[in-house]
Amino acid sequence: MAADLVLKTARLILRRWRAEDREPFARLNGDAVVMRHFVGTLTREESDAMADRIARHFDEHGFGLWAVEAPGVAPFIGFVGLSVPSFEAHFMPAVEVGWRLDQPYWGYGYATEAARANLADGFGRAGLREIVSFTAPVNVPSIRVMERIGMTRDPVGDFDHPRVPEGHPLRRHVLYRISAP
Ligand SMILES: CC(C)(COP(=O)(O)OP(=O)(O)OC[C@H]1O[C@@H](n2cnc3c(N)ncnc32)[C@H](O)[C@@H]1OP(=O)(O)O)[C@@H](O)C(=O)NCCC(=O)NCCS
Repeated sequence: MAADLVLKTARLILRRWRAEDREPFARLNGDAVVMRHFVGTLTREESDAMADRIARHFDEHGFGLWAVEAPGVAPFIGFVGLSVPSFEAHFMPAVEVGWRLDQPYWGYGYATEAARANLADGFGRAGLREIVSFTAPVNVPSIRVMERIGMTRDPVGDFDHPRVPEGHPLRRHVLYRISAP
């Protein structure tokens, strides 16, 4: 894919990452509220390593977790995009749609708007047949995004996330799916 490819929506620009995104990315990854449905917050080093992995993923797959810019609001509000999970599960191989926004940008529909653009790009340009999403059932805001963009829960899809320690309350996950139109 061209390095300057962007996805545009009514209010957002989904673009490749820049060096300046790392500082606000580390801040949101270090925020215990943003990360309350994950095993823990990330250090600056872990956050930078994730940004590196995201950049490599774009090169490898031609799609990825886009840096989300809200023109007139903020140059970086978080990420929304498609990724190939790097763990084994019953629904693999698969492509996941995911999102993580900084707190000030919750409640405006930005995640939903950006996710819809990713479904269109994934089913269009990338030619995917299906996209999945998953989270712990307690992550209601994330499940609401999945439902708003038309995903439906796989009734037999629940699974234990292999990256979450056994016995941890966030280990059990629900699985949502959407097929290409
Ligand atoms: C998951 C997450 C992105 C959801 O954020 P969100 O703000 O609830 O979702 P959206 O951006 O789609 O916004 C939807 C909300 O904005 C409201 N809204 C306001 N204007 C809107 C508009 N123009 N369009 C759609 N919704 C709008 C909706 O009513 C909804 O609020 P509600 O849930 O109280 O009804 C956010 O909670 C987050 O980053 N969490 C931490 C990271 C995380 O857990 N990621 C998921 C891991 S699986």
